Amino acid sequence: MNTSAMQAVLVDRYGDADVLNVQEVARPLPQPGEVLVRIRYASMIPLDWKVRRGWLQQVFPLVLPYVPGFYASGTVESVGEGVADLHVGDRVFGDVRGAYAQYAAVPAEALVKLPDSVSLETAAAIKAGADSAWKALFLEGDLQAGQTVLIHAAAGGVGQVAVQLAKRAGATVIATASADNLEFVRSLGADKVIDYRSEDFAQSASGVDLVVDTVGGDTELRSWGVLKRGGILVSLVGDPDAEQAAAHGVTAKFNTRFAEREHLLQIVDLIAEGALKIETGRVYPLSEVREAHRFSEQRRGRGRILLAPQE
Ligand SMILES: NC(=O)c1ccc[n+]([C@@H]2O[C@H](COP(=O)([O-])OP(=O)(O)OC[C@H]3O[C@@H](n4cnc5c(N)ncnc54)[C@H](OP(=O)(O)O)[C@@H]3O)[C@@H](O)[C@H]2O)c1
Repeated sequence: MNTSAMQAVLVDRYGDADVLNVQEVARPLPQPGEVLVRIRYASMIPLDWKVRRGWLQQVFPLVLPYVPGFYASGTVESVGEGVADLHVGDRVFGDVRGAYAQYAAVPAEALVKLPDSVSLETAAAIKAGADSAWKALFLEGDLQAGQTVLIHAAAGGVGQVAVQLAKRAGATVIATASADNLEFVRSLGADKVIDYRSEDFAQSASGVDLVVDTVGGDTELRSWGVLKRGGILVSLVGDPDAEQAAAHGVTAKFNTRFAEREHLLQIVDLIAEGALKIETGRVYPLSEVREAHRFSEQRRGRGRILLAPQE
């Protein structure tokens, strides 16, 4: 085995899924403060194809070619100088820039160590899923026991966790999904599920304290009217319409705060206790990365799509 090389996905121009190519490249060496992670699962999140399409060049300026991927789980393969808290063989997850590869050199502080009871598969779905749900509900949304929350795309990577966390917090949960996913969303604890394809949620929901919107567009537009005055709409897809918010006497928020390490540790504890379940979706080998992106772009299905670079 050539230990100085690895397989990675490279993008040399912005465009559709055909710009994703698997290539052999040099395996990185961990610098001081970094560890080399052998990536078991890379999270395949909608952000990845938004970046690949070139839509977010202002927010994520990249030098081409780049290796996609923001988050992953895996094991520590080697440790750079000055790293005391992580050791070879530790199971970890976290922020892994260039996660669509067999290995990545990662600052040690960007990683969280996993207890044995949490699988690497589940851990790969925490960042940009569970942590985003936490952020939307509690940091942005200030959700309190006894309140009512409307969670859109409740079967998705963010939504499935938001439903469970909101329920645990003592809220009444209304959730939207398509017919195939209604039972799944109900099983997560939603009190009321709405098939967004056959029913207008704006007619069936009212008096809502918080809307968590991972869809945007027309879904956002129809969400203002379900909120109580003084309520909050948290969008995860863009700056919500300030004029609509003012007209309805509600607060609109987008990405003002992010979940921190302490919240990640609480999420890991909940998973380890069995109090929070994360369903992962399809798992693709690196060689099928184009198919994975095309599937994600359809915005259908349940849970988080993963790439498995070692397969
Ligand atoms: N700003 C942030 O911090 C942040 C963090 C995480 C995610 N995001 C963004 O949030 C969005 C969602 O992320 P995700 O990972 O949860 O996506 P995802 O897993 O790809 O979402 C797929 C889900 O969306 C549902 N869906 C699609 N259209 C819908 C509609 N009109 N109404 C209700 N449900 C609908 C689908 O349900 P069915 O299969 O039942 O149709 C499917 O379950 C993405 O745009 C992502 O970039 C932002």
